[in-house]
Amino acid sequence: MVKNPSHQDFDSSNYSSNYMTKFKKFKPFKLFEPSVGILGFLFITVGVILGFFYLDYRNVVTGGSFRFYKESGRFRWLKFGGYSTTQSRKRFDFLSGDGDGCDVFDGDWSWDERYPLYQSKDCRFLDEGFRCNENGRRDLLYTKWRWQPKDCNLPRFNAKRMLENLRDKRVAFVGDSIGRNQWESFLCMLSSAVTSNTSNDSIYEVNGNPITKHKGFLVFKFRDYNCTIEYYRAPFLVLQSRPPPNSLSEIKTTLKLDQMDWTSWKWRDADVLVFNTGHWWNNEKTINLGCYFQEGAQVNLEMKVETAYRKALETVISWINAEVNKTRTQVFFRTYAPVHFRGGNWRAGGNCHLETLPNLRSTPFQSSPTWPQYRIFRDVISNPSKTLSINATKVMNILNTTIMSSMRKDGHPSLYYLGPKLSPAAAHRQDCSHWCLPGVPDAWNEILYAFILKKATDSHVK
Ligand SMILES: *[C@@H]1O[C@H](CO)[C@@H](O)[C@H](O)[C@H]1NC(C)=O
Ligand SMILES: *[C@@H]1O[C@H](CO)[C@@H](O)[C@H](O)[C@H]1NC(C)=O
Ligand SMILES: *[C@@H]1O[C@H](CO)[C@@H](O)[C@H](O)[C@H]1NC(C)=O
Ligand SMILES: *[C@@H]1O[C@H](CO)[C@@H](O)[C@H](O)[C@H]1NC(C)=O
Ligand SMILES: *[C@@H]1O[C@H](CO)[C@@H](O)[C@H](O)[C@H]1NC(C)=O
Ligand SMILES: *[C@@H]1O[C@H](CO)[C@@H](O)[C@H](O)[C@H]1NC(C)=O
Repeated sequence: MVKNPSHQDFDSSNYSSNYMTKFKKFKPFKLFEPSVGILGFLFITVGVILGFFYLDYRNVVTGGSFRFYKESGRFRWLKFGGYSTTQSRKRFDFLSGDGDGCDVFDGDWSWDERYPLYQSKDCRFLDEGFRCNENGRRDLLYTKWRWQPKDCNLPRFNAKRMLENLRDKRVAFVGDSIGRNQWESFLCMLSSAVTSNTSNDSIYEVNGNPITKHKGFLVFKFRDYNCTIEYYRAPFLVLQSRPPPNSLSEIKTTLKLDQMDWTSWKWRDADVLVFNTGHWWNNEKTINLGCYFQEGAQVNLEMKVETAYRKALETVISWINAEVNKTRTQVFFRTYAPVHFRGGNWRAGGNCHLETLPNLRSTPFQSSPTWPQYRIFRDVISNPSKTLSINATKVMNILNTTIMSSMRKDGHPSLYYLGPKLSPAAAHRQDCSHWCLPGVPDAWNEILYAFILKKATDSHVK
């Protein structure tokens, strides 16, 4: 990858002082020329503003402020209009009986200095691509937002409590690389409670596989809790395989829309299952690669990807209903995680670089036309076809994270996903679909945490 020099100013660690140095060079001899004077004034203004931000990052990042839950006055304006400013609203605890009907996905992002829950450099379980800060991203505001439901409070994440709850249990994430993003976030959140000891490691991959760039599946065990946190790569959830014999040569592979991924027997009996699928259901990752859709023995060259996606979702729901023991297994389906390519898609110069703030509720909500995956999912849930005779919300919990994540255009790696040496990437190769860690997937997992605890609480009461 070629570095793009035009971005290097923004990536140097103290760009505010860079601006000031440039200004000083101007000052002695040119300030009286009107145009340069205006330019100089602009430099001062920009420099001062950036300086303020930079100082506050430093406070936030290095100031040991995690011990205190106090609000930075300088950032209070960021919470304009958020629910969090109105303390008059009475919210129940989600875990209490009063929290039962609470829609935890309806809410807003709230600035919270107790965040993030961990630092990427302290977590061994992260792909390079998610380590934005270590890859050179300097602004860390994106790690400081907590999800606040409108009508109830989520329990604060407690890794020890989660591990105690997961003792002798298996948690499996099944899906695409955004699912992997969430799985790695969960590993980091949990491992913060375990003192690491490299000579006798209490967290390890059961097959000895390294985490980086691994395809297939990975199973991490927390030894002292006999608990495993697993990831299975199955971007379509249904089975992708070789075409039937004597197929046309343009058919390279098929997606069998009526069969689950071949790994399903491995995770069917997990205690917690977290599915996601969406980002691969487009022409680029299917038909354009010679991957067509198959039902029974029949490959259908005409079927549209939206139709195929819908059928695949129905297969997943029917399979859960038929195969998963719902007394033991808590099933979650996480909805589509929106991308934030501004001005084009990822191949066509779309970007999210220099986005440092979320869209809070007060900013007009922009529904995105790029979410057919979300609309189709919602449609399957609310208007299931005749072949799907069961109510999807009865067999799985929906982690309805689409809207909350859509507010977080600031949460993506943008140029900082190529590792510490090769980042930043060229401006036209930005990652605006995965998420920096710590970051947005931590909030999905805090909600997952709340659901797991709530089930445990409810079953104790009964
Ligand atoms: C997800 O949440 C949004 C906003 O709260 C809501 O409009 C939508 O119906 C929900 N979708 C599902 C599938 O629950
Ligand atoms: C560890 O957990 C598994 C289930 O994931 C269980 O089958 C096994 O008996 C447990 N081992 C011990 C030593 O408790
Ligand atoms: C780490 O594990 C080794 C081997 O079991 C043990 O000797 C050492 O005391 C442990 N260190 C810590 C800090 O727990
Ligand atoms: C590592 O720690 C576990 C549990 O504390 C212990 O059973 C095991 O013997 C230790 N292994 C080594 C090599 O020290
Ligand atoms: C389902 O899981 C529960 C709890 O683990 C167990 O008691 C029950 O026997 C299981 N049912 C079947 C059909 O396997
Ligand atoms: C499924 O069940 C939920 C909760 O009982 C209900 O609100 C919803 O309308 C049902 N959906 C369909 C499609 O029947």
